[in-house]
Formats: sequence, C-alpha cells, structure tokens
Amino acid sequence: GVSSLQRVTPSQLKQHNGRKGKPAWSAYQGKVYNVTPYVPFHPGGEGEIRRAAGKDGEKLFNEVHPWVNWDNMLESCIVGIMVGEAETLK
Ligand code: HEM
Repeated sequence: GVSSLQRVTPSQLKQHNGRKGKPAWSAYQGKVYNVTPYVPFHPGGEGEIRRAAGKDGEKLFNEVHPWVNWDNMLESCIVGIMVGEAETLK
C-alpha cells in the first residue's frame, strides 16, 4: 500500500534524471516511478521517454499518448509518492 512507499520531494525527483548512471524517475499523478528498466523498450524511443526523467511527466505523456495505461504498465516500478519540499523534514 501507499504507506510503504518512499516520500519523494521535487528536488529528490530532479536528482534522478537518468544521467551519469543515475536512475530515471518520473512522476505521474503524484506517484513516482523508476522508469529505467522500461526505457530500452519504449516504443517511442529512449530519447522521448528520457525527456520526462527527473520530472513530472504527466503533461508530456498525455500530449503524446493519453490512451496508454501507464499506471498499469509501471505498477512494478513504483518507488514513492510526491510530497512537498519540507515534508521529509517533519
Ligand atoms: C509510444 C509507453 C513516456 C513519447 C508509446 C507506446 C507506449 C508508450 C506503450 C506505444 C503506444 C501506441 O502504439 O499506441 C510509455 C510509458 C511512458 C512513456 C509507459 C512513461 C513511463 C513517454 C514520454 C514521451 C513519449 C514522456 C514524450 C516526451 C512517445 C512517442 C510515441 C510513444 C512519440 C509514439 C511512437 C510511434 O508511434 O512512432 N509510449 N511512454 N512517451 N511514446 Fe511513450
């Protein structure tokens, strides 16, 4: 359940940009996914999916393929939920 998930701040998300050996994380609807294992299999190419690395990818994603069920596809890749910048300090 959601309680076992890591709390991820916007600055932590930004650090996971898929560059220099770092994993590529993307946020969708408040949930954070490690998309790294999927990147080589993305039908739209690696470059396209990497545009959302370290970011909230919802807008880009929905501009291109709103019919794709990412929630279902990336279920096993979920790492956490987005929280505000100060939330992990509490
Ligand atoms: C195609 C999944 C992120 C750009 C596809 C397709 C899937 C997919 C299943 C095939 C769709 C179809 O044929 O109906 C995903 C998943 C993503 C993701 C799971 C997130 C983790 C992105 C992002 C972009 C993007 C962020 C753009 C910035 C594209 C493009 C195609 C495509 C351009 C079309 C390729 C073509 O038909 O020639 N993606 N995608 N995708 N995706 Fe993604």
